[in-house]
Amino acid sequence: MAMQASTTRRGLLAGGAAAAVAGAALGTARRSAAQRGGGEAVRIGLILPMTGPFASTGRQVEAAVRAYLGANGETFGGRRVELLVRDDTGVAPDITRRLAQELVVRERVRFLAGFGLTPLALAAAPIATEAKVPMVVMAAATSIIVQRSPYILRTSFTLPQATVPIADWAARNGIRNCATLVSDYAPGLDAERAFKERFTAAGGRVPLELRAPLRNPDFAPFLQRVHDAKPEALFIFVPSGEGAAAMKQFAERGLREAGIRLIGTGDLTDDDILNDMGEPAIGVVTSHHYSAAHDSAENRAFLAAYRRVAPDVRPNFMAVGGWDGMHLIAEGLKRAGGGASGDQLLAAMKGLSWTSPRGPITIDANTRDIVQDIYIRRVERRDGQLWNIEFDRIAQVRDPGT
Ligand code: PHB
Repeated sequence: MAMQASTTRRGLLAGGAAAAVAGAALGTARRSAAQRGGGEAVRIGLILPMTGPFASTGRQVEAAVRAYLGANGETFGGRRVELLVRDDTGVAPDITRRLAQELVVRERVRFLAGFGLTPLALAAAPIATEAKVPMVVMAAATSIIVQRSPYILRTSFTLPQATVPIADWAARNGIRNCATLVSDYAPGLDAERAFKERFTAAGGRVPLELRAPLRNPDFAPFLQRVHDAKPEALFIFVPSGEGAAAMKQFAERGLREAGIRLIGTGDLTDDDILNDMGEPAIGVVTSHHYSAAHDSAENRAFLAAYRRVAPDVRPNFMAVGGWDGMHLIAEGLKRAGGGASGDQLLAAMKGLSWTSPRGPITIDANTRDIVQDIYIRRVERRDGQLWNIEFDRIAQVRDPGT
């Protein structure tokens, strides 16, 4: 078994010399761990955008994972865990793939985790499959991701899961025609499709469907078109980090004055940057799985643990994906034991349920995707700060595609 796994891992690295170097490094690591006692540490490869346009996602997820370890200790199933954080810059799937490969082959990580954007998660999926290493997707949110490897489990969300409730809400609240504006890549297309299907099924009309480039987007021309078309509302999906620019342009183009209501998934009113959006964000209604304003004991404990690691940052939905992803790994180690194989760990993690800072969640045993409550929220000012205030809840939503 051990031989097989190591042969597979070596097969991943082109060139025997590199494998030999890896083997030597591994021997040293094993001996020093054994000298410390308690068995070899469990290494977790955390691949995140720590620089570049999506660095806020990396910072949020890493802080949450460290907060989890700070609050719960670093030993699970008799083994200490060791984090290996790697920056994939957020925009280059080739880099993510190479980092995943190196972590598996040279560093012998027992888990791959993180994955800030869909193309990056997709790039790493074949590595997880080939190495039989569980891969915990803590951030990326296109439906299809979990189907790309039987070793993938997800603790973030899916765009259709978050979008269907706001489409229903819009139809129920007298909005009869609503334009859409999404980032032009997989999660945006998921959101666009889910919104249109659901909203039109309820009798609504989508007069305009716009897609802005993912990189360096200029939302102004798109919002001008929406202004000219004058729908009753505009639905926006942009990935975490880009909401402020979209909100600013919405205000500057005078869409609010024109009477166009703004709705979206909660990626738009991201807690990390919500306060900086100011007045234009107030009243915006979104649907999502997490708000830092969520009122529960688990969320208060999460906020306190997070504050100890990152006192100046408000955790957002990416952070809660990181916290829960680390919980999933910790529970897998406790249940299967610190020395378990990738397959045993995967089996132990499938089907787990717990109360997250966001509310009750389950990792579905068959799809390995997350089932969770989705909240309808409105941006309000409370005590001088802007918050996503939850006012309705749709219980235990699955990805509609699965
Ligand atoms: C994704 O690329 O899957 C993604 C990134 C950021 C989000 C949502 C989805 O806010």
